[in-house]
Amino acid sequence: MTHTVAFTNIGQLVTNNEPLGEGMLGVIENAGLVAIDGVVTWVGESKDVTSHSDVATVDMHGRVVIPGFVDSHSHIMFAGDRSQEFAARMAGIPYSAGGIKTTVNATRAASDDELRHNAARLIAEMRESGTTTVEIKSGYGLDVANETRSLRIAREFTQDTTFLGAHVVPAEFSNSPDDYVDLVCEAMLNECVPYSTWIDVFCDIGAFTTEQTRRILTAGIARGLKPRIHLNQLAQGDGIAMAVELDCASADHLTYLSDDDITTLASSNTVAGLVPGAEFSTRAPQYPRARDLIDAGVSVALSPDCNPGSSYTTNMPFCIALAVREMHMSVDEAVFAATHGGAQALRRTDVGHLGIGAQADFAVLDAPHYIHLAYRPGVPLVHSTWQHARMTFTKGDRA
Ligand code: NIG
Ligand code: FE
Repeated sequence: MTHTVAFTNIGQLVTNNEPLGEGMLGVIENAGLVAIDGVVTWVGESKDVTSHSDVATVDMHGRVVIPGFVDSHSHIMFAGDRSQEFAARMAGIPYSAGGIKTTVNATRAASDDELRHNAARLIAEMRESGTTTVEIKSGYGLDVANETRSLRIAREFTQDTTFLGAHVVPAEFSNSPDDYVDLVCEAMLNECVPYSTWIDVFCDIGAFTTEQTRRILTAGIARGLKPRIHLNQLAQGDGIAMAVELDCASADHLTYLSDDDITTLASSNTVAGLVPGAEFSTRAPQYPRARDLIDAGVSVALSPDCNPGSSYTTNMPFCIALAVREMHMSVDEAVFAATHGGAQALRRTDVGHLGIGAQADFAVLDAPHYIHLAYRPGVPLVHSTWQHARMTFTKGDRA
């Protein structure tokens, strides 16, 4: 028995397929969308939707429909709170990678259920702001047992799980960081591979060097994981060439970038994963050079980078507003980066757009135009969120 749903009266449908509509977002006004068994089979004008008695029809009442946000970078397997660290930072203490260790202690002390419930709570928040696909990293266990269980629990929520055993060197290895790299490359990787799709390393000041990162990513690739990287968040490093050489699906943060870095990225398949919530919440001296990246032809993804230290937000619309206001991206570029860009960063073609064959994952906005995502910062515009053509969140109708 197939399940067919026809969505009618969509005021504005963002397909992210240029040939299907107007502009880079392929926008169709007064649109309709048909999904069979959770997959988009037709888009066009609402008046052309053919209804049959066996088709469920959902009237969208003129609302805007956009592809569900694809969050390609999250650190939601953790326990504890670092609000004091945030307050101290706002009083002038700079952000450093060392704060991660506070969360490692709390995470190791937490039960499986505490970790599971915290992740579920944050994923519910994501859905409420229109996110339908999420990548989840480990990285607050930093020993074999805790990294493995973080990934095992993360797999309950997504296939896009990322082994980030190389987040920082834990306290017990502070005098022998290369021994920790050995552990990550051998015993930890072996245990974590069954629960991981990706491997990531924090390559930066206070975390791992470019050479250590190369070793770790290469070991992961040899065991079938796909690489991605945290890079140049805290300082201009020399890791871009290595990231491109290893074909990292995304290089994330990139607060610091040279002209040469941008040229190197432009000739690669590596997506620039920009996480402006981190610059915002760490009061970084600058935001990434999004304009230069896009003008050079680099594909850009946006993500909230949800984590308890540098960016404790799950909210993609907030990042769209930051991207437009602070990084000079157009609204179209920012919406594209938060949807299609995220999918590209996860090397997925089934999400991040609403063309034929896509998963029917979308957000419905209480707004007359998708520009409102940036124009109305901080306002919860998501009326409902749909995954595989089924509603997974609604805030209901206002009286
Ligand atoms: O993406 N940069 C590395 N990891 C996280 C921060 C982790 C933390 O401070 O707990 C990030 O910003
Ligand atoms: Fe991160």
